[in-house]
Amino acid sequence: MGNMFDEIMGRDYVSIFKDKKYLDHKYIPNNLPHRIDQIKVIAKYWIEALYNTSPTNITVFGKTGTGKTAAAKFAMKELKGSSNAKEVFVKTEYIRCTDYTTEYQVIVELCQRMGRDVPDRGWTKHEVMKAFRDIFRRNAFGKNMILIVVLDEIDVLLEKDGDGILYTLTRTENVSILSISNYVDFKKFIQPRVMSSLCDKEVVFPPYNAEQLIDILDDRAQMSFNQNTYDEEVIALCSALAARDEGDARYALDLLKTSGEIAEENGDSKILTSHVSLAKDKIEHNTITDILISLPIQQQRILEALLRLTHENEEITSGKLYDTYQEVCRGDTSVSYRRIFDLINQLELLGIISTNTISKGRGKGRTNIISLQCDSELIEKNILSTY
Ligand SMILES: Nc1ncnc2c1ncn2[C@@H]1O[C@H](COP(=O)(O)OP(=O)(O)O)[C@@H](O)[C@H]1O
Ligand SMILES: [Mg+2]
Repeated sequence: MGNMFDEIMGRDYVSIFKDKKYLDHKYIPNNLPHRIDQIKVIAKYWIEALYNTSPTNITVFGKTGTGKTAAAKFAMKELKGSSNAKEVFVKTEYIRCTDYTTEYQVIVELCQRMGRDVPDRGWTKHEVMKAFRDIFRRNAFGKNMILIVVLDEIDVLLEKDGDGILYTLTRTENVSILSISNYVDFKKFIQPRVMSSLCDKEVVFPPYNAEQLIDILDDRAQMSFNQNTYDEEVIALCSALAARDEGDARYALDLLKTSGEIAEENGDSKILTSHVSLAKDKIEHNTITDILISLPIQQQRILEALLRLTHENEEITSGKLYDTYQEVCRGDTSVSYRRIFDLINQLELLGIISTNTISKGRGKGRTNIISLQCDSELIEKNILSTY
């Protein structure tokens, strides 16, 4: 027998991927098709910084995968390039609010990135705020420093810690904010007095349609795949599936990458549309699994109860579900009958279950019929083993 590696790497073996990193979520391409208009709007506001005044605050929103993060980072890079060449002192700092989830953490991080010796913990909020404001009091090279803070996924921070961060940043001179949210209604977390000092301009990122996704994928595919390893129909199918879903470029890229991996695992030298279908199933499975394993315990118990009743082929009303749920809890803490409707709603929003209101007949009111929306095996595998 020859050397195993040499055999695998042998002449017949055509590798699909030239460089996988270009299909990675983190990779920011130099060219963002169909987002030029949005980036120009951001640039139009940020240009103020080059004249040494702090720009208008901006809020960007749009669904997942509509290029918000990529566009903001792109705009940051462009601004940096331009300000380096000029005699101005502009800084942009990117903060992902899933990493820094409180006002305190964000301000400490900003201080540290700007070279202040502020410890991660121990200082009072007041001391941290003072250190932050001091940065802007002292002039840098005789000029004011302008700081633009990009707060990505800001809804996470606002929900957890309130709107203090916006209050603090908007009340600090020479600081401008660009916040990014996946949800249009995230402003419900912001109080009117903070809203009025935020005074933001909104930029909306609409979902991509199939043709736009084709343009996006075409570029990335050329960089990632070897020649003759895919046809245009593969790109078109990934784009169509993602456009039908949510217009999500991340999903489209995932589909393309997973299709390539499946083709490679099969030892095929070309990606086929059948690989795309397999990739779609694989990705769907993975997302539901991710959701299931991260569910809070009471919701897991509701799903266990639902699973039991599903196996018994019963018509599942909310009353019946509540009874079985209490059996599942076996004397452990359980939530009230009223609270269970919230939990059911949340599970429905996640697409794991569906509810259907029906009339019980004249004068008898209405009731909810609940059913599972995902593979019951997935639930058995991921829920019952976790607690
Ligand atoms: N117009 C575009 N051109 C090229 N790639 C894009 C474009 N829009 C999004 N992407 C890519 O899609 C993925 C998701 O984009 P991202 O900016 O993270 O979306 P969001 O922040 O809106 O959820 C990233 O890999 C990004 O590079
Ligand atoms: Mg993002």
